[in-house]
Amino acid sequence: MHPDIASHRARRDRLLKTLVEGVLILATAPEAIRNRDTHYPYRFDSHFYYLTAFPEPEAVLVLIAGKRPRQILFCREKNEEREIWDGFRHGPKAAKTAFGFDAAYSYGELDKRLPKLLENQPRVAYAFGAAPAWDARVMGWINTVRGKARGGVTAPANLSDAHALIDAMRLLKDAHEIDLMQRAADVSADAHRSVLHLCKPGMGEWEIEAELLRVFRAGGCQSPAYTPIVAGGGNACVLHYVGNDQPLKDGDLVLIDAAGEYHGYAADITRTFPVNGRFSATQKDVYEIVLAAQLAAIAAVKPGNRFNAPHEAALRVLTQGLIDLKLLQGEIDGLIESEAYKPWYMHKTGHWLGLDVHDAGDYKVGGAWRELQAGMALTVEPGLYLRPSADVPEALWNIGIRIEDDVVVTEAGCRVLTEAAPKTVAEIEAAMRQ
Ligand code: GLY
Ligand code: MN
Ligand code: MN
Repeated sequence: MHPDIASHRARRDRLLKTLVEGVLILATAPEAIRNRDTHYPYRFDSHFYYLTAFPEPEAVLVLIAGKRPRQILFCREKNEEREIWDGFRHGPKAAKTAFGFDAAYSYGELDKRLPKLLENQPRVAYAFGAAPAWDARVMGWINTVRGKARGGVTAPANLSDAHALIDAMRLLKDAHEIDLMQRAADVSADAHRSVLHLCKPGMGEWEIEAELLRVFRAGGCQSPAYTPIVAGGGNACVLHYVGNDQPLKDGDLVLIDAAGEYHGYAADITRTFPVNGRFSATQKDVYEIVLAAQLAAIAAVKPGNRFNAPHEAALRVLTQGLIDLKLLQGEIDGLIESEAYKPWYMHKTGHWLGLDVHDAGDYKVGGAWRELQAGMALTVEPGLYLRPSADVPEALWNIGIRIEDDVVVTEAGCRVLTEAAPKTVAEIEAAMRQ
């Protein structure tokens, strides 16, 4: 199923039409050193990958728009010695055919070829400010062209942000992307199901994390989509808890925010369940509030609704829930208006999802929340986090609950990609009994 070279080429064709004229330059991500001479696992730049499917470091895409459009890849040469140590490289010749380019050259020829390609071009689209070393290099190429002014050569006068153009495209997922996202979601849901069966009081958060990572990799995901959160008891009230080094206690809940990345595409799932397999009455009361908020938010994901509609739907249910729990008093509209819920619900209800877990794309257009359209993908993830404090009854202390699913907007509403992960109290308790 991957890579689907035709889909990537079609994206470049579309971008060339949007560009109309000029040259787009886009580099992939550099390799990153973890310590001394050891690298982090390599992860390509999402914008670059979206347009090329090319997975190697040291690669640059150059698109030339206009009457004679050209799609050019710069990549590493074949190198027998380096391939013995580090593995296969396509090399320009094979990459040109395999990834559907009009031409491919050695990465080492960038400084020689780019000034030539920029001559007499009206415009350069480039990700200004994303990487200082590239900023200097691109400006150097432009200055080389400017230096030829007396010979009658003109340099690009119009500089624009390449990321903004690609962000707008990435907001709407094509069928191939949705297939990959469904696969990431399926494997991630498998992992959540697996830890439901495994979890017992006395286990360590790290043991749950180990099982999640095992299932992601065994299911074909290349990597987790982000650092897993396995947060027992009060750790769940730390939103970005990633220590995962505490024992899981009988009577506590555990919040797990973890998902895999499949050929670049992220899933993003959170489930919260009782360590011992049975919700207490109090835990269940809070859980049902968050679940009702999540279902109301999912129902608000449909074309024509604005991005903020699911958040507003969740806020109504959560605020009413906080009134029912006697944490808030008063009238619901006023409490929402004054953000009285904020001590216990301090984040938004979702974000765009795709190649990046917090994916590309503006949330507002001209100051107004963006209208949802079929093909957009987002998370729906309300929660309640009840830290110990004087205004919270002790029975509620350290209950932290979030429920997060991934959805794609469809013509009729939305499709939940992650519904295979058990979510209701009955589903969770049944899965944990097995
Ligand atoms: N896992 C990151 C998030 O939920 O936004
Ligand atoms: Mn999320
Ligand atoms: Mn998440």
